[in-house]
Amino acid sequence: MATTAAAPTLRSWAAPAVPSLRGAGIADGRVSFRGAQWRVSSPMYVLGCRAVMSAENRDVSLASSELERGKQNEGEFSHSGGEQRRRVGRGSRLVGSGSAVPKTLISNEELSKFVETSDEWISVRTGIRNRRVLGEGDTVTTLSVEASRKALEMANVKPEEVDLLLLCTSTPDDLFGSAPQVQKLLGCHNALAFDLTAACSGFVLGLVTATRFIRGGGYKNVLVVGADALSRYVDWTDRGTCILFGDASGALLLQAATDDQDSLLGFDLRSDGNGQKHLHVKIDNEEDPSPSGAESNGSAFKKPGKASYECLQMNGKEVFRFAVRAVPQVVEGALQEAGLSSENIDWLLLHQANQRILDSVSDRLHIPAEKVISNLANYGNTSAASIPLALDEAVRSGKVKAGDVVATAGFGAGLTWGSAIVKWG
Ligand code: COA
Repeated sequence: MATTAAAPTLRSWAAPAVPSLRGAGIADGRVSFRGAQWRVSSPMYVLGCRAVMSAENRDVSLASSELERGKQNEGEFSHSGGEQRRRVGRGSRLVGSGSAVPKTLISNEELSKFVETSDEWISVRTGIRNRRVLGEGDTVTTLSVEASRKALEMANVKPEEVDLLLLCTSTPDDLFGSAPQVQKLLGCHNALAFDLTAACSGFVLGLVTATRFIRGGGYKNVLVVGADALSRYVDWTDRGTCILFGDASGALLLQAATDDQDSLLGFDLRSDGNGQKHLHVKIDNEEDPSPSGAESNGSAFKKPGKASYECLQMNGKEVFRFAVRAVPQVVEGALQEAGLSSENIDWLLLHQANQRILDSVSDRLHIPAEKVISNLANYGNTSAASIPLALDEAVRSGKVKAGDVVATAGFGAGLTWGSAIVKWG
């Protein structure tokens, strides 16, 4: 009988020694940390080292933003160089917003020409009247670049001052992520950029994630972009779903601040994969048409099919029930963490899915209708973009003012849902 070597017990297993990421200034040749960047001892393999953290992460010295191999890298991927020194705090302030929507508008009347529906049915059941969908030249990337530019402008931050760009999207232009393209087109040479996927909760999750990078990672300027183009995945013959969605992008610029200026007052984030059956866009694996045998030279290996995605599938009633039950709970949880109650908030800004969901959640939280931000009549459900898009409009119209407390909540596929209580400005 074959014997197997005994696996080390958890008790006896010892992690290999790694240099601590905390502590006072890390000497050259040890490890410094800034997101996904390391510096290792040999001068031959210095990879994108940008920050050296001091005790308590308060001092961040941006040593070099070159992608170095050996002493110098002259490749096309190099970041801009230059010694920079920044002093950052641990709180995050929301200092800029921007948004962008495609020009192509589809009204309820137009929709009723290709699916059996009516303006009356859609507006009574959802509050939606128009939606924007990608037209010629529009992509998730181009919309995100436009929204981000506006946020940077409002914040008076230059692209090269951005340290991190989080693109919250479930519909990137590239399966591997679109954030680095947004980074490139914006000229954020010094930023780390990556995608975060959490459907309609994506922006709230991205916002909280960004604050953690500022608090724990020494990042100063973080762009959080929520963008989606679900028009690419809805079945335009299914009147139960195609009436709901639109495309857009919204962005916020978060900036490191002192603890007492922190804009994130509390949050409560959740997920439950059991609910995936109610809302999903699943992978659709085409079977490889070639039979086994001669064509495959008798190999048992079966060539994987080319993957694409099915159209969005949704059980509207179940999603509705989930939203009106789960969202008030997380808003209350986040308010509790913030030491606030619903009377203390100036605005309720929920993911813009359906006016009836907004009404029901605000009723449950005893928040009057005049404090509820809603723009879904114009855009429909824009997934990860809906919260920053609505916030940007509210800020630019003067509705939301510096110091206002906004209770945000996202919810959707995954299932994921969560609330963040934030202060604007
Ligand atoms: N136009 C006209 N009739 C429609 C229609 C449309 N666009 N869509 C559905 N109907 C019909 C149905 O066929 C059904 O007809 P029947 O009674 O003859 O069978 C009737 O209207 C009621 O359909 P139902 O699906 O029960 O409607 P509803 O009141 O649940 O409303 C939604 C449907 C999708 C608007 C609603 O369930 C909803 O908004 N759910 C939440 C979805 C959501 O927000 N998802 C994203 C979360 S991130």
